[in-house]
Amino acid sequence: MKSFFYSLLTGFLLTITTSAKADDGSSLWLRYGPQRQNEVTGVACTAMDELKQNWQGGPVILKRQKKIAKDGYNITTKGDKIIIEAADQNALLYGAFHLLRLQQMGQDMSQLNIQERPAYQLRVLNHWDNPNGTVERGFAGKSIFQFPDAERMKTYARANASIGINGTVLNNVNAKPEALSSENLQKVKQIAEWMRPYGIKVYLSVNFASPMKLGGLDTADPLNPKVVDWWKKKVAEIYKLIPDFGGFLVKANSEGEPGPCDFGRTHADGANMMADALRKHGGIVMWRAFVYNPQSKDRAKQAYEEFMPLDGQFRDNVVLQVKNGPVDFQPREPYSPLFTANMKTPVMVEFQVTQEYLGAANHLVFLAPMWQEFFSYVKPQNLKAVAGVANIGTDTNWCGHHFAQANWYAFGRLAWNPTLSSETIADEWLRQTFNNDERIVRPMKKVMAESHEAAVNYMMPLGLHHIFAGGHHYGPEPWYDVPGIRRDWTPQYYHRADSIGLGFDRTRKGSKAVEQYPDQLCSLFDNIDTCPEEFLAWFHHVPWNHKMKSGRTFWNELCHKYDKGVQQTRQFLAAWDTLQPYVDNQRFDEVQRKLRIQARDAVWWRDACLLYFQGFSHLPIPNDVEHPVHNLDEMMKYKINITMYENPAYGYDK
Ligand code: GCU
Repeated sequence: MKSFFYSLLTGFLLTITTSAKADDGSSLWLRYGPQRQNEVTGVACTAMDELKQNWQGGPVILKRQKKIAKDGYNITTKGDKIIIEAADQNALLYGAFHLLRLQQMGQDMSQLNIQERPAYQLRVLNHWDNPNGTVERGFAGKSIFQFPDAERMKTYARANASIGINGTVLNNVNAKPEALSSENLQKVKQIAEWMRPYGIKVYLSVNFASPMKLGGLDTADPLNPKVVDWWKKKVAEIYKLIPDFGGFLVKANSEGEPGPCDFGRTHADGANMMADALRKHGGIVMWRAFVYNPQSKDRAKQAYEEFMPLDGQFRDNVVLQVKNGPVDFQPREPYSPLFTANMKTPVMVEFQVTQEYLGAANHLVFLAPMWQEFFSYVKPQNLKAVAGVANIGTDTNWCGHHFAQANWYAFGRLAWNPTLSSETIADEWLRQTFNNDERIVRPMKKVMAESHEAAVNYMMPLGLHHIFAGGHHYGPEPWYDVPGIRRDWTPQYYHRADSIGLGFDRTRKGSKAVEQYPDQLCSLFDNIDTCPEEFLAWFHHVPWNHKMKSGRTFWNELCHKYDKGVQQTRQFLAAWDTLQPYVDNQRFDEVQRKLRIQARDAVWWRDACLLYFQGFSHLPIPNDVEHPVHNLDEMMKYKINITMYENPAYGYDK
């Protein structure tokens, strides 16, 4: 065992700033105080620097211990010293951040005996950033990579490293061919240099037709030798600039993006061609399974139908990247059945950290409970890696909403350890981001714990899905339709409201999507009396008068759920309002403003959905729930005019 670094730091203190009167949230959960500029030359040095600058306790020894698995570390207290042991440099940095986290949380460190091993070797953020600086489904300003500067990149890398994230895909999955231009690669090289001291590798999303659009070839057929050669040369060019480049993320033959199927080839042909080009450099291909075509009768079945027949055909440096649910990051979905299909091909889950379908940067929705629900169905060990679509932009507070930072944090923590409870994660984040005052931590932990279920309640309870406005996906438009539009881009395709009931029949008698699940779950979901009520309208066309567990009819239950969601958002606002004396002014005001928007939007959601569905159920809204305050015809005329690159600043301000 060789001790290769140690730092003796007693008396080298910085003041922790927690009670500032105005705080813009720019330092995220790393609130140790101002950072001094340091020359760093390696990840272990970064670990040492972090401790030198921020650790307030006694001596810390960083030690190499070869037997510990990659990225894992042990932290132990020995007398007046604390020892961090790890086999590799990144892990020393993770250990250092762990120690700093305990310090921020005011924990007793006199008897530490910690062994940490990450569940996955790859824990990667996906940025949907475009070269012109817009961020698809981004609600926190522009792309941080458009005009990157050393300081911002350092804070970004540091925040990621502090929660164990070790990879970042810099650009949108709807990739422009220019991502691979020699000019852009120079920029990627620079970003990679800023990331390297924090153990973070960079990856790129690539456009499958790049050999044509960028290389001037007349085909992108993955079996054409000229195409193969183009990719080999491009990959060699990348690795010359960035020796530790991570690899490619590919969205192919999906939503109009080019892919191997355009040339009569399969997804496996396309992925393998790229994998072969990357292999000798140690790179990987993350090939997305997000595919659906308008001809299919059930969009939810398609990824499974398209990828199962290809199982066993992928190279071993290809990972299939599958969204958590079978449709598209809905407020609640059952898991994608590809995860339990026992495929030989490694699969990784793609979560969406950015709140495309969960109130953008206006609603406080803590996503850890949703991701945990996924892990309650899918064994973490069945996955190879975890990816998260980032919610990060140039906004001063990085994520648009102070509490959206908690989702970035939670993503990293769960990618490291998917068995962590969401309560633990919320507790850690609140203490680090605000302070250890129980008067903040206790009530806001409760708010965070309830917030996802509340959003499901006021948006899409009981298995409803994709009844969003066309285009921006912020508010409700269960009526949305445009002549000639693909049916699977309209809410009616999903909710199927009629005089009998509501929901998509995916049973054995319907689209048979249930059959893609293991036998036991298939039977459970298939039977309307055993199907978990939270998935009822996902798997069944539920009669309006269907008897629910509560004793209510389905219609009445729907009304109750929508109204409950509204009441919950009011409670969140009331809980926050009491915290004014304990939170700095700026963050207090900014969060309060957002909670007011959320409470108002929830009413809009409830009114729009209940009044619209009432047109089919012809049933009264029960008297024990608050009745709508809007008129449906007015709501149907009202449009929030925003693109998919911005946050609707005022929500439904009617
Ligand atoms: C959703 C989202 C798109 C995105 C796509 C994807 O459909 O609305 O903006 O491109 O997912 O994940 O590829």
